[in-house]
This record gives sequence, C-alpha cells and structure tokens, in this order.
Amino acid sequence: MLQDIYNRPLKDLRISVTDRCNFRCTYCIPFDEYEWIDKKEILTFEEIARLANLFVQLGVDKLRLTGGEPLLRRDLEKLISKLSSLNGLEDLCLTTNGSLLAEKVSALKSAGLRRINVSLDTLNPEKFARIRRRGDLAKVLEGLFAAKLYGLHPIKINAVIERGVNDDNIIDLVEFSRKNGFAIRFIEYMDVGNSNNWTSEKLVSKKEILEIIDARYPLREVGRDKGSAPSVDYQFIDGGDLGVIASVTEPFCSSCSRARLTADGKLVTCLFSATGHDLKKLLRNGATDEEIIEIISGIWRKRTDRYSDERLEAMNSADGYRAKDHKKIEMISLGG
Ligand SMILES: C[S@@+](CC[C@H](N)C(=O)[O-])C[C@H]1O[C@@H](n2cnc3c(N)ncnc32)[C@H](O)[C@@H]1O
Ligand code: SF4
Repeated sequence: MLQDIYNRPLKDLRISVTDRCNFRCTYCIPFDEYEWIDKKEILTFEEIARLANLFVQLGVDKLRLTGGEPLLRRDLEKLISKLSSLNGLEDLCLTTNGSLLAEKVSALKSAGLRRINVSLDTLNPEKFARIRRRGDLAKVLEGLFAAKLYGLHPIKINAVIERGVNDDNIIDLVEFSRKNGFAIRFIEYMDVGNSNNWTSEKLVSKKEILEIIDARYPLREVGRDKGSAPSVDYQFIDGGDLGVIASVTEPFCSSCSRARLTADGKLVTCLFSATGHDLKKLLRNGATDEEIIEIISGIWRKRTDRYSDERLEAMNSADGYRAKDHKKIEMISLGG
C-alpha cells in the first residue's frame, strides 16, 4: 500500500473543479476580484477523470468535488457520471454553497452523486449577507430541501463558527438540522490562505461549541468515522447526530489520508501547503499512466506535512503562532 513518511495511506482525493465562486465569504476570500486561473489552464473533465482513475488505482476510495463553487462549472453532472463509474470508488460527494443546488440537484442525482455537503453558517438573512457577501439565504435553503426531496443522503451542513460573528447561531443551526433531518458539522475557523486575517481570538474551539450544544441537547461521543475522518462525531442522547472539525485545537494530521487537486491540476498534499505539484503539465506533455502513477507515488512517499500539529505546538509555545508568517495556497483554489 502507498504510504507517506508517517505511514499515512492515500485514501481521499478532493478535486477542485473551478476556482470561481459566486460568493465572497469573509473567512475564505474577502476580495471582490482575484487573480482567477486562466480558463485554458483549468483541467477538462477528461483530464480530471483520467487522474481520478489513477488515484483510485493508488488506493483512493473517496472523491469529493469542490471549488470555488463547483456548481458554477458547466455540465458538472457529466464529470460526476464519469467518476461514479470508477471501479474501486466507495464514496463520491460534493461540497457546495447551495446557491445553485435547487436547479441542479436532479441532474446531479441522476449522474450518480451519492451525497452532498452544503455550507450554511447562519439562518439569519442579514448575517448571511454579512458573512457571505453575495447570494441569498433563501436560495441555499431551497437547495437544501431540494437535495432532501431527491433523496441525497446524508445531507451534511458545514458551518464555520467565528467569534463575535455567528457563535450566537450555534443552537439555531442545531435545531434547524435536528428538525429537518440534516447532519450538521461545525468547523473551527481556520487560517487557510493568506487573506482572511485569521487570529486565534476569532476561533471558537470545539470544546466551546460542544459545551454550548451539550447544555441544551446532551451529547455522547461516537468518534471519527473509520478512525481518520476530520470530523469527531457525536450523537444526541435523544437521536440524531452532529460533528465537529477541530483542525486548530485537535489536529488530526497523524491520520490525514487526503490529497487535493486544484482546478489547474496541481497536486497538493496539505490544506496549508504553499505550493503544489503540476500534474497538468504531465497530462498535456503526453506522459503515460504508468509515468504519472510513478510521479504521484513518489510525491506521496515523501510527504511530511503535519501543519496543524505544528500550528498547535507553536500556539502553545512562548513565541506563539502568527498566521501571516506562513504563505499558503488560498482556500478558494484548494477547495477545503
Ligand atoms: C472552500 S469551500 C468550497 C465549496 C463551496 N464553495 C462551499 O462553500 O461549500 C469548502 C468548505 O471550506 C469551508 N471554509 C472556507 N474557509 C474556511 C475557513 N477559513 N475556516 C474553516 N472552513 C472554511 C467552507 O465553509 C466550506 O464548507
Ligand atoms: S468557495 Fe465556498 S467558502 Fe469560499 S467564498 Fe465561495 S462559497 Fe464561500
């Protein structure tokens, strides 16, 4: 089995299908304009499917499509259809801001999409406008309920919690999810990219999030799915589940089996990496499958990333941690 320096296998590939987005979330990309990737540099569906197939041969059994906003990529269902038939793939899912979901869900489901994560950080329309800076809460909710109607299951809600911004919405989000049968995942605010001005004061820790919820709806811990999922899962004592992704306060680097492919074909081995490895050049210069597999394997075998572990060590040290000292690829290019 292919393993990196710390014996972590390659199991999970997140594919960004576009860096474009119709939102400008403050925690992700607080600029109106950005240096978008030139369209001709974006991988075609054929190129993505070829690489995905090679990754599956190397042991990947889970693919997640992301972006930017993946539903902005025209005819995405054609890619889903190619990927859903890959031999050896156990899980195919999509992370979306939900704005275009209502109109696309039927085609996505028919193409073989199995489940979906929708980002939703507040149920308050004014706060939604402040956080996401574009788009409309009503369209996101319409998308969520359309996904439910079409039987995508489980439907997970991703909520990033930022202190002083939406930490007072945690219980609303829990109640909304419980009432409607959605599984909610709270995400600690992370210092992804270089532009969101992250500081540790803006972080609401997993511990705080759980204390708020447990006081109203008692929980019991279930653990990480397959022992390596980013989310630590909990069950409400009276039924239903919830998860928290605590990349900052409880890093899970030691079990991280995730690779990322940017929309322009760079293989990135950590969410907090500064650079990627150009696979598009290989594809477009006529490399054979065997050659590409050899190169990906070589990259993975040398992988030493443990950024979140190192960040926590720095946060706990006398010198502290300054997010600005570390240049990273922007989240909008990486896809989370
Ligand atoms: C980059 S987005 C791409 C997919 C899609 N546009 C969406 O918003 O779901 C993927 C996930 O990253 C999360 N995210 C973005 N910036 C983040 C940050 N600074 N900290 C934690 N999560 C973040 C988003 O909330 C979303 O759930
Ligand atoms: S990629 Fe997702 S998280 Fe980033 S700005 Fe767009 S909708 Fe927001």
